[in-house]
Amino acid sequence: LIIDASGNSSRSIPDTLFGIFFEEINHAGAGGLWSELVSNRGFEAGGPNTPSNIDPWSIIGNESSIIVSTDRSSCFIRNEVALRMEALCDAEDSNICPAGGVGIYNPGYWGMNIEQGKTYKVVLHVRTLESLNLSVSLRSSDGLQDLATANVIGDASDFSNWTKVELMLEAKGTDHKSRLQLTTMRKAVIWFDQVSAMPSDTYNGHGFRKELVSMLADLKPRFIRFPGGCFVEGEWLRNAFRWRETIGPWEERPGHFGDVWKYWTDDGLGYFEFLQLAEDLGALPIWVINNGVSHNDQVHPSTVLPFVQDILDSIEFARGGADSKWGSVRAEMGHPEPFQLTHIAIGNEDCGKKHYLGNYLKFYYAIRDAYPDIKIISNCDGSSRQLDHPADLYDFHIYTSANNMFSMAHQFDRTKRSNSGPKAFVSEYAVTGRDAGRGSFLASLAEAGFLVGLERNSDVVEMASYAPLFVNDNDHRWDPDAIVFNSWQQYGTPSYWVQQFFKESSGATLLPATVHANSSISVVVSAITWQSSESDNYYLRTKIVNFGSNIVNLTISITGLDSNYIKSVGSIKTVLTSSNLMDANSFQEPNKVAPVQSMFENAGTDMVVELSPRSFTALDILL
Ligand code: AHR
Repeated sequence: LIIDASGNSSRSIPDTLFGIFFEEINHAGAGGLWSELVSNRGFEAGGPNTPSNIDPWSIIGNESSIIVSTDRSSCFIRNEVALRMEALCDAEDSNICPAGGVGIYNPGYWGMNIEQGKTYKVVLHVRTLESLNLSVSLRSSDGLQDLATANVIGDASDFSNWTKVELMLEAKGTDHKSRLQLTTMRKAVIWFDQVSAMPSDTYNGHGFRKELVSMLADLKPRFIRFPGGCFVEGEWLRNAFRWRETIGPWEERPGHFGDVWKYWTDDGLGYFEFLQLAEDLGALPIWVINNGVSHNDQVHPSTVLPFVQDILDSIEFARGGADSKWGSVRAEMGHPEPFQLTHIAIGNEDCGKKHYLGNYLKFYYAIRDAYPDIKIISNCDGSSRQLDHPADLYDFHIYTSANNMFSMAHQFDRTKRSNSGPKAFVSEYAVTGRDAGRGSFLASLAEAGFLVGLERNSDVVEMASYAPLFVNDNDHRWDPDAIVFNSWQQYGTPSYWVQQFFKESSGATLLPATVHANSSISVVVSAITWQSSESDNYYLRTKIVNFGSNIVNLTISITGLDSNYIKSVGSIKTVLTSSNLMDANSFQEPNKVAPVQSMFENAGTDMVVELSPRSFTALDILL
């Protein structure tokens, strides 16, 4: 391997090369990244008509002691359904009334994580024409153990109009599968709506689950593509993501049924929150919009203009001044400063659909006119032929076997170079199927090879992100994923760890690196120089994927660098390998397949490095 460190042929890697792609799939957001513990908080999940489906809310009591139904009496006009609960018994009627009274409970998303000593903010909207004696409690999964309780008491007149009740509950015990209960010991008719429970310590106080965001922050993502792929399209347009419905006070959001991944979301994690998350991560938001095309229906270009205006409004919401129509809504939500929205992806995997291009052009010219600096991303693949329409970037998605993915390290070697043509946004890639299972070492090794290829081709590839990002272990709609979690634990799959090897690459300098070896050796290599933001140290990092099953002794020569520039101590070797190709991580063994670091002692301008079979190695030489 010869690395040319002279600087003569080096070039800058785009600042945005590696980022993340968040999709509301696998309960990634609802019941995941978004810390809301109550599922179906407004009783809307069955749709706007009553009687409505209140799942997963359940009833405490039986037909002699309680009647629960829904009606449209809510005080919130965009989500009118409320729950009506009629307690038929007083606690004294011990042969009808359960001890502890009657009521309803919400188990959250496969149980709420309640931890001793932590506080939880519970908010509910309540109305009754009678005196109120309501117990609001966090309880163990079987309802037997009380973890925290508050009582809401009032006279007949106190709650005769809808009243917002806010409580801080401190947990005196821990249960990772707890539930929230609303119970009464008195005969009464009580209406409930918009019931929320959130841990009080969320990431930056912005409502995101801390440990999950920390795992994202550890990847140093330069962008976040959101809110999804198919999720944006919908099976039908009526179920597609509509940003307007996801902004403003949480109580007023109608929520929607994502019909591709087949679950309801209350849209607590809405358009504003995605922009906020991007800002918190120091990542550029990449807003994927629906351009009037779903999986099964499409708007004709002649009638798509209202959709175009809708998206222009969304851009004003993100970027407009606090005195603009939509910017003022953002300001009211607590963010008077504009968000830095610079990229819009028009549609997802829709190229070739009947009205995609016609609609695309309407969106393209309207956005370009109003916001000339915004980079626009087309769904059509420009890697092997020139696009027949204007675009700044084109989407490239690849889900394939391990061998194929590894060979695709060379996919963009063949792409025509031009100064003005659109660059590639590899916005979804992953090894899938038998080679990957739920996240194997083999899959990650092949992806490492692919990413090395992207880095080498970063003159024509501007951005790349793995997909999907998250899976709630209770809802594997799509495997594999980068991060697996349940209500209280999380771990990275090997694919997550591979991404860690690239987190210093965005904005770094790429050096020419050429392997001279016989073709039976499956090795791909890239070399960069980068500066640590923590220590200011400069490193020359060589990343080497040995996809073969033999040890490789690699002779590395660094030309154009005086060996005196290499510090005698401080170089580091990081290796990702595993004894079995299908090895995976789990809650029990979260770091079974994870990078291992050691001091790299023989760093120099001429060195021999032994690469284990099936391994990914990074050598950071301290300069
Ligand atoms: O990443 C999962 C899905 O794969 C995305 O929603 C879609 O864009 C692709 O088909």
